[in-house]
Amino acid sequence: MKVLVVDAGGRGNAIAHAFSRSDRVKEVFVAPGNAGSEFFPKCRHVEEVPSIRAIEEIVNFAKREDVDLVYIGPEEPLSLGLVDRLEEEGIPAVGPKKEATILEASKCWCKDFLKRIGVPIPEYKNFDDPDDAKEFAREMFESGKKVVVKADGLAAGKGVFVCDSLDEAYFAIDEIMVRKRFGEAGNRVVIEERLYGIEVAFTAISDGKTVKPFGHARDYKRAFDPDDVDGMREFYIGFFKRFITKAEAERLYREGKLLNPNTGGMGAVSPHPKLNEEIERRIMETVVEPVIEKFRIEEGKVFKGVLYPVIMLVEENGELIPKVLEINVRDCDPGAEAKLPRLESDIAEISLAVIEGELENVEIKFSKDYCVAVCAVSGALKGREGLKPGYPSDHYTSQPIEGIEEAMKQAIIYANGIAKPNGYVTTGGRVLTVVGRGKTLEEAREKAYNAISKIRFPGMRYRKTIGLDVPD
Ligand code: AMP
Ligand code: GLY
Repeated sequence: MKVLVVDAGGRGNAIAHAFSRSDRVKEVFVAPGNAGSEFFPKCRHVEEVPSIRAIEEIVNFAKREDVDLVYIGPEEPLSLGLVDRLEEEGIPAVGPKKEATILEASKCWCKDFLKRIGVPIPEYKNFDDPDDAKEFAREMFESGKKVVVKADGLAAGKGVFVCDSLDEAYFAIDEIMVRKRFGEAGNRVVIEERLYGIEVAFTAISDGKTVKPFGHARDYKRAFDPDDVDGMREFYIGFFKRFITKAEAERLYREGKLLNPNTGGMGAVSPHPKLNEEIERRIMETVVEPVIEKFRIEEGKVFKGVLYPVIMLVEENGELIPKVLEINVRDCDPGAEAKLPRLESDIAEISLAVIEGELENVEIKFSKDYCVAVCAVSGALKGREGLKPGYPSDHYTSQPIEGIEEAMKQAIIYANGIAKPNGYVTTGGRVLTVVGRGKTLEEAREKAYNAISKIRFPGMRYRKTIGLDVPD
């Protein structure tokens, strides 16, 4: 079998690696992929596809190479209708059609849908007027609740503002709706109650009728370890272009005012350390199964592919109730990098079953081992254009990377953003995801951290607390 994986980052390389382990698979193309796609046997990086948005180039490549199936990683090509285009050409694909991406592409629509079908969610309201949104945020704070403000549309993971104060909520509403930082995606907002609990990156896979668990992870989203005042200080100076002393940074930190930005993810652990079979079953029964079923029956839309609800387990009367924060129509990143090495079943067989509507007859099994994935990112660095704060904000690229081969002796390396003009260089904010595997979480952590310590590039930074039970 010839497989085409569409993705540019670490998640795509983890998917390609899973296909490369299948005896049925002869060749895996990753489009556009990156220089790290070729770390794995059978895998090839497709340089002629310029980006994940180049729908026609992807379709043409799939036709020319006569691939047997296409597996799509990110939401953007899905919401641009890549699966619809591939099916028109008779090429089977794993991923939802354009109309089914509405679950992720409109947070307002998704919240209304979840409410209508009785899936537990935080209290919320949708708004298309900033003044009304502010009034609701004020009422929430007055009744002792904090809020989260979310742009309705796709905003590359940046459209969510978790607010500690009413001022922050006003700022978020202005950013999204008035200053239109995310363009049209900010025509509407969801304002919802901020929940506290255990956050889970839960995934499931469906052929439209049957849906099965597809692994879970704990995702670490904050850029810095919770006590990394030096790191947050450097970021602050680079971001606001204003020098602060160590003492000032300490004071801001104590007052809870030192920014620890949200990222797309700085690392992940799979399985989620707090999940057990009972909670997994509850998530399937109260969230995943109703979403797939009601989406088909009540909305007339079939969901085929990986569904990734972000769940908050909230304690109520001594029980953990799963509440949905959002739904994604694709696998998580870097959760997939921590999860997929543990997949023991054949991903090619699972994919064919999804395409043919036969998922019912396939077993999906994960190893009991732990995987800890730690992301090496482009951190604060002084260069030709002065000091840049680093990921998730402005950062330098094209920095030479050393030590990848050494690190590979102890861990799996999924490249998020690298190129190889001569030696390896950085091309993005997230650069490499280093995955340690072990019988215990501690063993997996040790391997990941030993391996990542062999890697060096100017400005390189990573969190030290991935796998630990720290507030995030
Ligand atoms: P989302 O893109 O909706 O998953 O939001 C990004 C992150 O913001 C989530 O992973 C959570 O950490 C946080 N978040 C979103 N909604 C809420 C909420 N209602 N309560 C607490 N945290 C939230
Ligand atoms: N790590 C968050 C996401 O994949 O959306």
